[in-house]
Amino acid sequence: MGIFRHEPSVLPHPPLKERYTNLEAKPEYVNQLFNKGAKHYDGIVDWGFFRTGVAYRRWVQQRHGLKKGDRVLDVACGTGLVALAASKILGSAKTITCLDPSEGMLSVARTKLDATFVVGRAEALPFADNSFDFLTMGYALRHVMDLEVTFREYQRVLKPGGKLLILEVTKPTGRLSGWFFRTYFGRIYPALTQFFTRSQDAKDMMRYYWETMDACVPPQTVLAALEAVGLANVKRSTQLGLFSEYTASKPTSPPAA
Ligand SMILES: C[S@@+](CC[C@H](N)C(=O)[O-])C[C@H]1O[C@@H](n2cnc3c(N)ncnc32)[C@H](O)[C@@H]1O
Repeated sequence: MGIFRHEPSVLPHPPLKERYTNLEAKPEYVNQLFNKGAKHYDGIVDWGFFRTGVAYRRWVQQRHGLKKGDRVLDVACGTGLVALAASKILGSAKTITCLDPSEGMLSVARTKLDATFVVGRAEALPFADNSFDFLTMGYALRHVMDLEVTFREYQRVLKPGGKLLILEVTKPTGRLSGWFFRTYFGRIYPALTQFFTRSQDAKDMMRYYWETMDACVPPQTVLAALEAVGLANVKRSTQLGLFSEYTASKPTSPPAA
C-alpha cells in the first residue's frame, strides 16, 4: 500500500522490534493477530473488563451526542461491539457502516448486525468526502500506521459539524495506578486469557494489547495530531483516569485563508 511507504509523521507507538522486523510489516502482523484471536475476542473483553464493555460503549456514545438518524462510521469495528451499542441508540444498524481490515473480526461482527461491512484501513478510507455524521473508533488507535494520516481521513469523511469519538485505554501516570495497570494488563489478563480459552493465539493478542498500550504516545500527542489536521473542539475526557474519550468535530466552515 502506497500510503505506508512515506516516513510516518506521528507514530502511535515506536515500532515493536520483537513483533515485526520493520514498520511496513506491522499491518500484516496485526491483521494475522486479530484474525487468529477473533473467535475469542468477545469473551475475553466480557470478563476482562468486568462485564462493563457493552454498557460502557453505549453510554459513551450517548454522552457524546450520537442520535437517531445519524449516519455512523465505526472504524476498526472488530467484532462489532461499538456498532452494536450504537444500533441500540439509533434503533437499528441500517445507517451504520463498519470498517475493519481483519476478515476474522468482521465475520463475527456480521453475525450480530444488519449494518454495511467494509474491509479497509483507517489510513485510507474508501468513502466519499462529507459522508458521515458520527465517526467512532474503539481501542484501535495504536494499530494505525500514522495518527495524522488517519485523522486527516476522519476529517475528510465527516460531514461539516460531524462528530468524532475515539476510545482508548491509557496507561496511568501515578506509581500505584501504573503498577496495578501493568500487573493486570501485562500479566494477569494474558495469563487468564490463556487459562480460559486454552489458546496461545488469544493470549498473544492480549499480550500485544498490553505492549502497545505500554508503548503508546501520551494523550497530548493524540490531541495535537487531531488539532493539526484542522478538527475543532478537540478534547479528552477520562473515566477512572484510564478510559480515554477523545472527541472532536469537523468545522462547519473551512478555516480562513
Ligand atoms: C481491539 S480491537 C477493537 C474492536 C472494537 N472496536 C471494540 O471496541 O471492541 C482492534 C481492531 O482494530 C482493527 N485494526 C487494526 N489495524 C487497523 C487499521 N489500520 N485500521 C482500522 N482497523 C484496524 C483490528 O483488526 C481489530 O479488529
